[in-house]
Amino acid sequence: MRVLTLCGSIRAHTSQHDAVMELAHTKGPISEFIRKGKSLVCAGLTLSNSEILAAATMKGVYSKGADIDYFPLVVLFHHKESSVLDIRCRLRKESAVDELAYLDTLTIVEEKLEGLYTKIAKADGVILSTPVYFGDRSSVANKFFQITARKSLLQNKIFGVASVGAKRNGGQETCNIYSMIETLNQGALVVGNGPPTSQYGGTAVGENQGDVLEDELGLDTAFGVGIKVAHVSEMYSKEKHPTSQIRIRVDILVTMDTSGRFLAKYLKDLTSRVAKIIPWVEFVIHELIDSTIYRCLGCTICPVPPEGSEKTTKCTIKDPEDCLEKLRISLRGSDCAIIAGLNILDYEKIIFRYQVLTERMRYIRRSNFELTDLLITGLCYNQFGATMNSIHSIKTLTSYIRHNTTIYKPIDIFEYKRRILNDGETSLLELCNAARRMKAGKQGIPRPESPYVAYGYSGEPAKKIVARQKGGCVIIKRQKRMPVVLL
Ligand SMILES: Cc1cc2nc3c(=O)[nH]c(=O)nc-3n(C[C@H](O)[C@H](O)[C@H](O)COP(=O)(O)O)c2cc1C
Repeated sequence: MRVLTLCGSIRAHTSQHDAVMELAHTKGPISEFIRKGKSLVCAGLTLSNSEILAAATMKGVYSKGADIDYFPLVVLFHHKESSVLDIRCRLRKESAVDELAYLDTLTIVEEKLEGLYTKIAKADGVILSTPVYFGDRSSVANKFFQITARKSLLQNKIFGVASVGAKRNGGQETCNIYSMIETLNQGALVVGNGPPTSQYGGTAVGENQGDVLEDELGLDTAFGVGIKVAHVSEMYSKEKHPTSQIRIRVDILVTMDTSGRFLAKYLKDLTSRVAKIIPWVEFVIHELIDSTIYRCLGCTICPVPPEGSEKTTKCTIKDPEDCLEKLRISLRGSDCAIIAGLNILDYEKIIFRYQVLTERMRYIRRSNFELTDLLITGLCYNQFGATMNSIHSIKTLTSYIRHNTTIYKPIDIFEYKRRILNDGETSLLELCNAARRMKAGKQGIPRPESPYVAYGYSGEPAKKIVARQKGGCVIIKRQKRMPVVLL
């Protein structure tokens, strides 16, 4: 199994390839990586921040026993020392008038492309390390996505991203999320940086070259991306053609609907058609507008009962009407979850459960990331011209990747004047095939240990909140005070 890391810095340099690889192979904790990095800088190397971040992702991949590969994207372009004017001059002499018309500083040296194609083809997972430019990736990194889109090179690859900006909150997350959305659309499966934070990949701070070595937490998130991409790549590449005995269950959470059950009806019809084509899939549709979901109390009690405790329930809300426990148990046995929503013109008709569901799932996340490795995607029924819920799939990506899941390409159904332009059938079939491949590959690969355990304790404030909301229906048992990690 092999993971390719790309560096999108314009300050990266081929001459530093060996140093980056040396850093990637550093053994021990991140502090050791930092020590090594600083010694390379002291020795006169001007490593760019994205090169260092790339090395941190590769260290993560390597720690999982996977092969690492590295490609600085600047290699694809005319050497930065030759100015645009030099290149123009040369082209003019060669009277390449047509080429001249298209010349920009991002013109690719075509003969360098083959090397990149080969590396991508050999890789099961791909990681991008990029500087943040205006809350987005660099132009060099962007070129990579243009190249991969041209030939669908990211189809079925596991993708993760790490970025570095000069400032905290400098747009690292927006940068990562854009790349995640675009690679999903190119057919990749997307992961974040895994526990303990399980966010949108690596996010680091550093301005001048080498500064990122001062950001241990940021480097650790990049390291996490490497681990996560390697782990999911291993599962997904193990059984590319699963045997016919493997059956899967797909849970569809209908998080919003009209009172006439417009979405649920559509999904029942769609899933019955798909189940006829692939009889190895079972769909379970959860119509959540029929269920009660209490708001998260934001308390300090959830989730894991302390060791030796007889408590089995993981949330303090125990009203039998509340459907979260039932849903949690169903998702635990599931191979794939679809978070379904509506984006229709008559927005007023929508009954929402999406937001309350998403916030209540906090206790499931805090239970050692119970949904780890579950394949998840968003599905949205869109009417042309509707805007009120047009980012449903993006919201699904950003909220549900935080459960340490793997995200699949969203399913978007489009309707124009009652005519269905895209019915979602092909996308659903693709998703089921991916879920089946993942299930087959998972066998024999242990679920990674989560270093994150959020122990709770029932502090006074939580008790007060609970009593107010549920009039005493919620049972609170005071537990021994434990260290708390709040998110
Ligand atoms: C054109 C440009 C735009 C930038 N935009 C941002 C930004 O939006 N947010 C931020 O935090 N840093 C921004 N920076 C700073 C770089 O992201 C930062 O210096 C980074 O460490 C560069 O990475 P490198 O050393 O790998 O080239 C920008 C830098 C440049 C040159």
